Amino acid sequence: MSEEAGAEVLVEHAGKSFGRIGALDDVSLHMDRGEAIAITGRSGSGKSTLLGLIGGLERPDRGKVLIDGRPVWLDRHPAQARRELVGFVFQRHLLLAALSARANVEVPLIGAGVHRAERRRRALALLEEVGLADRAEHLPSELSGGESQRVAVARALVNEPRLLLADEPTGALDSVTSERVLDLLFRLRDRLGMTLAVVSYDPDVAKRADRTLTLIDGRIGDTGEAGIAQA
Ligand SMILES: Nc1ncnc2c1ncn2[C@@H]1O[C@H](COP(=O)(O)OP(=O)(O)OP(=O)(O)O)[C@@H](O)[C@H]1O
Ligand SMILES: [Mg+2]
Repeated sequence: MSEEAGAEVLVEHAGKSFGRIGALDDVSLHMDRGEAIAITGRSGSGKSTLLGLIGGLERPDRGKVLIDGRPVWLDRHPAQARRELVGFVFQRHLLLAALSARANVEVPLIGAGVHRAERRRRALALLEEVGLADRAEHLPSELSGGESQRVAVARALVNEPRLLLADEPTGALDSVTSERVLDLLFRLRDRLGMTLAVVSYDPDVAKRADRTLTLIDGRIGDTGEAGIAQA
């Protein structure tokens, strides 16, 4: 595992509102390269918003979000920068409805210029890892919720991102499948050294993570670190 493999994340006094709704307030967080954190907190506490800020999908109203010292959303090619750097497992709208499971997994590789046969090989290998080798050519409408979720995990991992942001990646899975998906995530973290943030209520995620961060009404509660993040 190379030292540069994982991305470094720095969130400084970040705030985000949607109209009159304050989603995040004065959130500060530092993630080392290759660190894995679990993010918990009640529904509506700002977990998905925080992942969106870290991944450059949302722009903070206040404060800074830096990945390897650079603000992702100021990049001249933000979509491309994200594609190369960040893997996302979204909480909703997991898959593109018109594409097969395999084609969905291949999507992040298309912009990266990976050859068709290689895309197919990598997608099938990951679908096998999440236990869906026999569903590769199925459409999302033909998959169960948990199967879709596993395809989404495979898609987020296919370009071996330096930063993986996963929003409830095991929320729809039984305990055996959930463990299998977590094994895959943490095994890849160990192998590639990627930085990992996982929003989850699953105690198994907190157990495997280096630390747990709890959001309370858009603010950081118990961080398990004495550093820059303040309650
Ligand atoms: N696009 C938006 N427009 C308006 N309000 C929003 C938007 N996105 C989020 N919010 C609000 O911001 C707050 C934080 O939302 P967020 O989705 O980050 O919560 P969460 O912790 O992920 O919740 P859950 O566990 O239910 O997924 C909530 O009050 C939510 O209603
Ligand atoms: Mg959420």
